[in-house]
Amino acid sequence: MTRQFFVGGNFKMNPVSREAKRALVKTLNDATLDPQTEVVIAPPSLYLIPVLELLRKDVKVSAQNCHTKTSGAFTGETSPAQLADAGIPYVILGHSERRTLFGKTRAALDAGLRVILCVGETLAEREGGRTQQVVEEQLQAVVALLKPEDWSRIVIAYEPVWAIGTGKVATSAQAQEVHADTRKYLASAVSPVVAESTRIIYGGSVTAANSKELAGQPDVDGFLVGGASLKPEFVNIVNARA
Ligand code: G3H
Repeated sequence: MTRQFFVGGNFKMNPVSREAKRALVKTLNDATLDPQTEVVIAPPSLYLIPVLELLRKDVKVSAQNCHTKTSGAFTGETSPAQLADAGIPYVILGHSERRTLFGKTRAALDAGLRVILCVGETLAEREGGRTQQVVEEQLQAVVALLKPEDWSRIVIAYEPVWAIGTGKVATSAQAQEVHADTRKYLASAVSPVVAESTRIIYGGSVTAANSKELAGQPDVDGFLVGGASLKPEFVNIVNARA
């Protein structure tokens, strides 16, 4: 089974002006993007709708978080149903910068969203030889909540915390090892079909310079890009497999 290469650009709390946001969209709109790659960008919530309206239609838009509830007295939150109603197809959940409730994944799927589900170990956990255990524990909480058919709407993002925003990218061997072990875990915890078809993407200091080698690993199915998604080199990362 071929898994479609996936590149997500997580803008985090950037940029800080509407003009800069329009410039980022223009860069993507003007670029030649590999048609084989699924490209998704996640602007801050304030810019979701304007980005959706300005952006070329072959690039999708993702929220960076959502609540578990459909509506209610939750100041400052966004519901999965509101995202779905606004035509936002994806949401990033469990990012280490805001790792929270796994119940969100169920709520987002129930609203019809696709989920970019983030997992990953801290440096202390890696140095203690607990990387795979930590990743599996994080996934286990979600596995218990999902039905087999939900998995076609999940993209797993392996993001070692020590690599996020640090310039310290995992080596391609380190990434491949965790991705392959995670796929083995999915095969036993869910099913071999889900393991084979679910995309496991890598995030953490991905740049145009390191993306080609990472993209060459058999179990690296794409990227979740932070800092470099705000630069023209994002286009090269999208085209890493081309
Ligand atoms: O969501 C993206 C990740 O946190 C990676 O961020 O590419 O700036 O290291 P980074």
